[in-house]
Amino acid sequence: MKGVRPDIASMQQNGITGLATPRLGDPSVIPLWFGEGDEATAGFIREAASDALLAGDTFYVNTRGKPELRTSIGNYLHSVYGLRIDPKRISVPGSAMMGVTIAVQMALTQGDEALLVGPYWPNIETACRVAGADIVTVRQHEGATSWVLDMEALFAAVTPKTRLIYINSPCNPTGWIMSRSEQLALLEFCREKSILLLADEVYHRAVLNAALAPSFLDLARDDDPIVIVNGFSKAWAMTGWRVGWVVAAKAMETQWAVLSECFNTGSAPFAQQGCIVALENSESVIEALNAKYRKGAILVNEILATCSRILLTPPEGAFYAFPKIDGISSSRAFCQGLLDHKDVGVAPGFTFGPGNEQYIRICFALSHARLQEGLEKLVLFANSYKE
Ligand SMILES: Cc1ncc(COP(=O)(O)O)c(C=O)c1O
Repeated sequence: MKGVRPDIASMQQNGITGLATPRLGDPSVIPLWFGEGDEATAGFIREAASDALLAGDTFYVNTRGKPELRTSIGNYLHSVYGLRIDPKRISVPGSAMMGVTIAVQMALTQGDEALLVGPYWPNIETACRVAGADIVTVRQHEGATSWVLDMEALFAAVTPKTRLIYINSPCNPTGWIMSRSEQLALLEFCREKSILLLADEVYHRAVLNAALAPSFLDLARDDDPIVIVNGFSKAWAMTGWRVGWVVAAKAMETQWAVLSECFNTGSAPFAQQGCIVALENSESVIEALNAKYRKGAILVNEILATCSRILLTPPEGAFYAFPKIDGISSSRAFCQGLLDHKDVGVAPGFTFGPGNEQYIRICFALSHARLQEGLEKLVLFANSYKE
């Protein structure tokens, strides 16, 4: 391919969009494949953005985010975690994914290694590959009641080339939540080795059986080699808005501005205005969404339990289930069959990194009637599926 780096030229879209794109917008499909529900963002947030747009809030703003929004994020973090974060450590990239991309670009170059805890959302791997890095994976495994990460295996996978370790807790796709003691051990390790810890906490409020997931924010000092990524997509159901935030080491302030300018110079200003209002009244929105996800998780557990072929380790957080389908060898073929024959869209496991070929990811953020219908069709399909 002329004019394109060979390693980029060989890349494909991830396995979720690869499967979904031909059927996007088809109303007959029950979409359990993407990481979002089917309700629009709360009306008062949409109104705030629309008022700002009508009032002419259409100019460039600070590339690290409107100062008022960064202050609001600081206040929100104080209300949730009781912490005062130095506003100089907070930036507002145009999505959590952009936050990941900027962090990856700061840390990685050709020949470096990125150590990713798997299974992981595929775009993280792509962002590291675009930077030229090699990928090393340590996969969580199913414990007796939840997914588990072997910390010794994680540390053993670090080599002199490791420049970044990626952790996503609560995890997309398994729902695993990293414990406080595991976080502390990892942070101390990264401090000692000067490895960038990329902590993806976009599902920080989607916790199924506890009030809050442990956050690296509670542990990180101002000068730690850490970027904690978060955003509005998940907790406030604002996926299309493309606004994220990061808390990074104070020393990264200038570098963040430099890279932000060469990506998208931050989010649209009127979208940021919506985010300020979202944060002012966040708890009612978050509580209602979480109640929906908790009920969705119960439906998933109950309905999948009726099929002996679907082996689910229940999630502790986020809004996904990641079951193994007994007796299949191609998650892509299984998901394509489910889509073609039952009009249900789920994500194929292979796209979440090595070791996941027998798995599928089901998003349970959808309204319950459609979710239930989709799950029942999945069970029917799995019961009769032959490769
Ligand atoms: C683990 C994880 N990180 C980051 C993101 C990106 O979120 P955003 O919509 O803010 O880019 C997602 C979205 O699905 C995700 O699942």
